[in-house]
Parts: sequence; structure tokens; C-alpha cells
Amino acid sequence: MAEHNDVLVRMVNIWKSFGHVEVLRGVNFHVGYNEIVGLLGDNGAGKSTLIKILTGVHHPDRGEIYWKGEKLIGYSVARARDLGIETVFQERALSEQHTIWRNIFMGREITTSWGFIDVKKEREETERIMRQYMGFTSAALSVDSMVGTMSGGEKQGVAIARALHFQADLIILDEPTTGLSLSETQKVLGFVEEIKKNGKSAIFITHNIYHVYPVADRIVILDRGSIVGEFEKTAISLEKLVEKLYLVARTGRLENNSQEVSVPKDQEKSERDLQSFMP
Ligand SMILES: Nc1ncnc2c1ncn2[C@@H]1O[C@H](COP(=O)(O)OP(=O)(O)O)[C@@H](O)[C@H]1O
Ligand SMILES: [Mg+2]
Repeated sequence: MAEHNDVLVRMVNIWKSFGHVEVLRGVNFHVGYNEIVGLLGDNGAGKSTLIKILTGVHHPDRGEIYWKGEKLIGYSVARARDLGIETVFQERALSEQHTIWRNIFMGREITTSWGFIDVKKEREETERIMRQYMGFTSAALSVDSMVGTMSGGEKQGVAIARALHFQADLIILDEPTTGLSLSETQKVLGFVEEIKKNGKSAIFITHNIYHVYPVADRIVILDRGSIVGEFEKTAISLEKLVEKLYLVARTGRLENNSQEVSVPKDQEKSERDLQSFMP
């Protein structure tokens, strides 16, 4: 059996169908240590499905997952969390009707020797965590702010800070910038940089290359269930990458004569694809 401990996580030959719909077709995907991977693809490409397999939500029909070289058997959501895989959802990241400090420690409370929640300590720690991981620049925010009053970008910042504080090795962001304003998007990109600085890894899922390119070490393109391209950021300019994406959207291929993608061309879909890669 091949060794896989050179990377943090490796998914090998992953297949997944829902009913008659083949969503993933032999996907090989990995994330290195302290690596930010941009997972790029149009709506319906299978990005979320791949990530749900990685987080134990779905089981693949075929394929294997290796975590730090160890093959995962009987994989589950609980196991993924134990390993240190955290998913930050844009909407479901936090509990809206609670304060920031409650959200940071929810489910992982600091308790006093009497077994009560140590409010003082949790508030102090939250202050420190937010300064360390979020810069805590917003004057309008305090540890006592209700999460419901925060912006979309800030909420994700708190969720990422929480994940970093609890030593997650891999933080997954599924479409973190979709629907956010430019300045909110910038904030989220800043939080992703924080993941990198802290020596951890992330998967940044998006259909917008302009959002992921600045923070990614490597960009992986998923198209209709197959990985059609993979680039180290240092090896390709943004302009070249955009060109490649247009080509994939138009032809289902990265090169004019690269690997076949056995999906019938659908003119209407192609035009939608082209638009979805626009900033
Ligand atoms: N639980 C499910 N049951 C049936 N079909 C699903 C399910 N989840 C995803 N799909 C289908 O799989 C395809 C890929 O979906 P998804 O992984 O969400 O793509 P992406 O995140 O790239 O937009 C879509 O056609 C979607 O309708
Ligand atoms: Mg998705």
C-alpha cells in the first residue's frame, strides 16, 4: 500500500452517485500541510459533495481517504471532528442569538471547579482569541456583541478564530464569499491568510477565481465530477488561469487536446458557466 503521509489528507479515486446521477467520477484530491487549496468549479460540479465526503457526511461509493498517512475506516462526522477537520458555513457558522464569547466556547465550555461555565474566563479568552486571529479592528464589536448583529464576513471570522483556537488542522470554507460585498470578501480573505500564518490548512471552495486566487497556494478545478486541472499558484498567472477556466467552461477540457470529459456539450449550460466565472 502506498504511503500517503507526505500530505495532510488525500482522497483517492472517489466515486459518488445520487440515484442515477454520477456526481463524482474518480476524484483524486489532496491538501498538504499548511496549504491553502482553492477548489474551483461551477455550480453543480460536485464541490460540496466532495467536501461532505471529506467531513464524513456522505460515504463514497468507491475510494479511500488517508489522514496523515492513515487510511480512514468507518469514517463519520464525529471522527472528522476528532481529527481536527472543521467546516465553516457562511450561514450556519454560528448561533445568531448568542454573544460572540458564547459562540466561541459553545460545546467546549471552560468550567469552574464547581462545574459552572466560567463566564469571566470565557470572555477574557474570547477577547484574546479575537485580537489574535481577527485583528479585532471593528470598534462596533465586543465579545458581548450578539452574533446576529455581525456582518457575514465577521461571522466567518469568528468561526475561523474558533477553529484555530481549538487547533483544527483543516478548515473547510464552502463558498465563504458568495453574496458578500467587496469589503466583506476582503475580510474573509484576511481570515484565510490567518489560517496560513497559523500553520494550518484550508480548502476554500468557490466558483469565483478572483476570490480564491489571492490566498490560494494551489488551485484545483472540478468540472462535472472530475478534476480537470490543478495549478500551483506560483506556476500560473491569474490571467492565464481565467483563460483556462473559460476553456473548461466552453469545452469541458483544460487543453484543446487534454483528457476527455465524457459529458455531452450543453450550449445553454456553457453560457451560464462562462458568466459564473466572472468577478
Ligand atoms: N443529497 C443529494 N441528493 C441528490 N443529489 C444531490 C445531493 N447532493 C448533491 N446532489 C447533486 O449533485 C450535484 C453536485 O452538487 P454539489 O456537490 O452540491 O455541487 P457544487 O457544490 O459544486 O455546486 C448536483 O447535481 C446536485 O443536484
Ligand atoms: Mg456547493
